[in-house]
Amino acid sequence: MMKNKIHVPPIKIQGIKTKLVPWIKENIETNETTRWVEPFLGSGVVGFNLAGKNALFADSNPHTINFYNQLKNKELTSSIIKQFLYKEGQILSEKGQEHYNYVRSRFNEEQNPIDFLFLNRSCFNGMIRFNRSLKFNVPYGHKPERFAQAYITKIVNQVKYLEFVFSQNNWEFKCQSFEDTLNEVTKEDFVYCDPPYIGRHVDYYDSWDEKNEIKLHDLLTKSGANFMLSTWDNNEYRENEYLKTVWKDCNKLNKEHFYHIGAKETNRKPMIEALITNYKIENKPVVEKKAGKKYVQLDLFSMIEQKQSTQHGT
Ligand SMILES: C[S@@+](CC[C@H](N)C(=O)[O-])C[C@H]1O[C@@H](n2cnc3c(N)ncnc32)[C@H](O)[C@@H]1O
Repeated sequence: MMKNKIHVPPIKIQGIKTKLVPWIKENIETNETTRWVEPFLGSGVVGFNLAGKNALFADSNPHTINFYNQLKNKELTSSIIKQFLYKEGQILSEKGQEHYNYVRSRFNEEQNPIDFLFLNRSCFNGMIRFNRSLKFNVPYGHKPERFAQAYITKIVNQVKYLEFVFSQNNWEFKCQSFEDTLNEVTKEDFVYCDPPYIGRHVDYYDSWDEKNEIKLHDLLTKSGANFMLSTWDNNEYRENEYLKTVWKDCNKLNKEHFYHIGAKETNRKPMIEALITNYKIENKPVVEKKAGKKYVQLDLFSMIEQKQSTQHGT
């Protein structure tokens, strides 16, 4: 279980929840013996910081799961990774794109997790994307001296932290669909879910639609376990309509998050994040104060009532 520092994992992924870990931590319902179940592991940043002694981590992407399983089984170690990144990084700095493409073809043939790490840390924007033929197809990131000594040290330290926590805990990794994972859940478990956003099809392993959203809700409810779902609520253009339909029987917590378009301060765009739970979240009226605004916890019904009373001036 994390103290204060957030440990960032060696695998990067779009939508990584590093910044939300403290907020998630404040609102989970676990104790030392609760098994943490995470059906959409991604990089692992949430569970690796918040899970207790027992955990089931799963994802439909076999490559992140293979990577973590090899670390757990000590087939892959921080010293092997260090040597590998020095050697391959040296060739990359000499040959650039030619070597990146060579490692990418080798990975697509052999699917070696250490090549996956190399590609994940040197490709364009740290993206993970597989085409329909299951080939990794992200282009080279073109960062000069990508695997400089300080960068390798950073990655190796991230791996060392995982070696430590994997050896201390009883954590299981499985490549499987969320349906299979949720069928293994008992009511004593705590389930944290961060599924892909609907309509944001990213790659072969990462597509999501309304049917999946409904199935997720139904399986979570059927499991009898306490659960938390991370999702988005609204931005200046759109609202997540599923919060009022699929998840209407749950509680909701909001937090505003700003992202920048270009360098101008006036171009700060707000995005409201949401945590959805099937248990009452302890009433912490002010979650965060930022730029003079208060972010408050409201369940869906209070939100609707508040909206109605604002509209009717009551
Ligand atoms: C938004 S990411 C999770 C990010 C993670 N919380 C983090 O901070 O790194 C969603 C993950 O769900 C996985 N995924 C997509 N569809 C899935 C499915 N049907 N079953 C299991 N996992 C799935 C994707 O491979 C991806 O890793």
